[in-house]
Amino acid sequence: MNSTPAVWNRKHLLDIESLSAAEIQLVHDTTRAFRSVGERAIKKVPALRGKTVVNLFIEPSTRTRISFELAAMRLTADVINFTAEASSLKKGETLKDTARNLESLNADIFIIRHSASGAPHFLSRFLRGSVVNAGDGAHEHPTQALLDTFTIREKKGHVAGLNVTILGDILYSRVARSNIWALLKLGAHVTLCGPSTLVPRVFEEMGCRVTYDVDEAIASADVINLLRIQHERQRRSMFPGLGEYTSIFGLTKARFALTKPDVLIMHPGPINRGVEISSEIADCERSVVLEQVTNGLAVRMAVLFLVNGGQGPQGIGA
Ligand code: CP
Repeated sequence: MNSTPAVWNRKHLLDIESLSAAEIQLVHDTTRAFRSVGERAIKKVPALRGKTVVNLFIEPSTRTRISFELAAMRLTADVINFTAEASSLKKGETLKDTARNLESLNADIFIIRHSASGAPHFLSRFLRGSVVNAGDGAHEHPTQALLDTFTIREKKGHVAGLNVTILGDILYSRVARSNIWALLKLGAHVTLCGPSTLVPRVFEEMGCRVTYDVDEAIASADVINLLRIQHERQRRSMFPGLGEYTSIFGLTKARFALTKPDVLIMHPGPINRGVEISSEIADCERSVVLEQVTNGLAVRMAVLFLVNGGQGPQGIGA
């Protein structure tokens, strides 16, 4: 694994696949500095004063959109929130024209969520400003993986050598892909589990272990990351029904009893209680679901700071 580089040289954050372990660790180190800003009485720093951040969300979001908005405000940026429903996309305008019109208002950073894989990469080819991927189709959700691995590192002290099981709909999940890249780069052992239609063996080529035996997948796990069924991206039914899914793959109280006493339970949200995870496990003391959300704010402050030219934790002003 590389040592942490002194500076960040990327204008965009488009994926985890192209990042090095050292760059991921630099984001984590910068995140830690911004988390301490969030614990102050005055939670703002002027790092993005005079800059304009556009939240371009063409797909629904609760956590990511609000987290990026608050992150930009904490950095003293001006923030424009754009949603597809209230825009001229509804009148047939293309994404390219919409983005170029926003750029004409001198926007500096574009945060985009889109149902099409590659939409952020497309924008990055012609926009002068920075582009940050907030989730593109089933491809990647880089800031989710950065906040997930940051949370693991904070709770366990390290990521390397840990057994991390990702359980659920892997095939249609951008969270899974970004997490797999980040965890493997940081030296974790990644096990994928779920119905065979949603966890094809092709993922073994990335360096993951694939199993369809959920009890075995969770027994040796230091971290279990639950994923919901991504109905919105599935073109046909991938398993007989939700009841059967829960009985075979759901993290129930009985299954939880098989896990290590210090296992971390994670979920990117939104949670479907009673489907992939029982309500009492989602809220139990081993669950770090809400800590993930808290850490997400600091991760997104770090990402906005870095793509705007910040060099790392040492560059954060008072
Ligand atoms: N985890 C996540 O991306 O949640 P949202 O869809 O609410 O942003």
